[in-house]
Amino acid sequence: MEELKGKHIVLGITGGIAAYKSVILLRLLIKSGAEVQVVMTPNSKEFVAPVTFASLSQKPVVSEFFTANTGEWHSHVDLGIWADLMVIAPATASTISKMAHGMADNMLVTTYLSAKEPVMIAPAMDLDMWNHPTTQRNIRILGEDGVMIISPGSGSLASGLQGKGRMAEPEEIFLQIEKFFSKTEELKGTKVMVTAGPTYENIDPVRFIGNYSSGKMGYAIAEELAERGAEVTLISGPVNLPAPASPLIRKISVTSAREMFDESQKAFNTADIAIFAAAVADYAPEVQFDKKIKREKEEELLIRLKRNPDIAAQLGKNKEGRLTVGFALETEKGIDNALKKLQTKNLDLIVLNSLEDPEAGFMKDTNKITIISKDGENLKYGAKSKREVAIDIIDAILRYRKYH
Ligand code: CTP
Repeated sequence: MEELKGKHIVLGITGGIAAYKSVILLRLLIKSGAEVQVVMTPNSKEFVAPVTFASLSQKPVVSEFFTANTGEWHSHVDLGIWADLMVIAPATASTISKMAHGMADNMLVTTYLSAKEPVMIAPAMDLDMWNHPTTQRNIRILGEDGVMIISPGSGSLASGLQGKGRMAEPEEIFLQIEKFFSKTEELKGTKVMVTAGPTYENIDPVRFIGNYSSGKMGYAIAEELAERGAEVTLISGPVNLPAPASPLIRKISVTSAREMFDESQKAFNTADIAIFAAAVADYAPEVQFDKKIKREKEEELLIRLKRNPDIAAQLGKNKEGRLTVGFALETEKGIDNALKKLQTKNLDLIVLNSLEDPEAGFMKDTNKITIISKDGENLKYGAKSKREVAIDIIDAILRYRKYH
């Protein structure tokens, strides 16, 4: 079996007893056709000799910044370009902490900081170290940074204690690596545009009409799409979120609905799928003042609004085989209103958020949705994190695409 044929993997080894299990992991990877470059921390050499990894991988192990006798420099930057995936197994509490805080005092953490490729870690440590709030905080930081974490298992630990902390078995890590690579193939070559966040409609240079959309749902969708190999154009209104790290996501920042419409039109031309997750302002001030409006004597100030283009509806008029997905935020008659929107915007699927539910909606980290298809099917989901909701939405799109 050669599922991983030609894949480039950096295998990082840190100083824990579980390093011996990584010899088996390396063997599985090599047998599967992967090319593996082992990077060891200085401490890890106390546990397994570099020659074991070097002979199995048929490549000298990288451990120092320089080869002492020749002065040859080992480039962590080149490794970041070469690799399709970086796996650190075992990952000790110390390495996890250095990764979380960017402490680049050895070749392995330096390589991590230069990594362009996704990173997976298999923590291994004593149960108290694993349970310590510091370690748990560091693990959370790495999770937020997009590092995939293979949870340690429970059982006998090197200290003689019993509990959680032992590194996942090599076969389990190998399985996760295989899953990762098959996932990246799922939407390979598919172009998807996603609109996200609110729009701001300027009244004058210092004031605008906006809404409370955080953009989290659209960003989570873009990130999940990229993990499955799609090329994503993320057209984002003003949000307070870090730009997605994936090189497969091209982010275009816009402010107003008009700008979002213009950019969406361009991206739609080459897209296979369009997901309209933005909370676009339906109206904008008819006149935008170029000077700040001063307080007048009158008790009232009237701002006339004009309709903004409906991006989903306009693009839906000429979609020629493209699959389009919209969102509906409703406070009453959710299904009926969502179905109407699906029809008027010529969508294939619509994701209904009901604001009647305290776990759904704006500025929240969780969401509770119903996905309704053009065929009238509807699927209700429980309350989940926005990332999990993104997975459900993309799974629903893929299922729909398979049968249409
Ligand atoms: N949408 C859009 N362009 C607009 C308005 C909405 O692309 N100018 C998209 C949104 O991204 C979302 C869906 O259309 O996918 C929401 O439909 P919309 O009619 O805006 O819903 P509401 O604003 O909730 O409509 P209403 O206020 O009538 O309930």
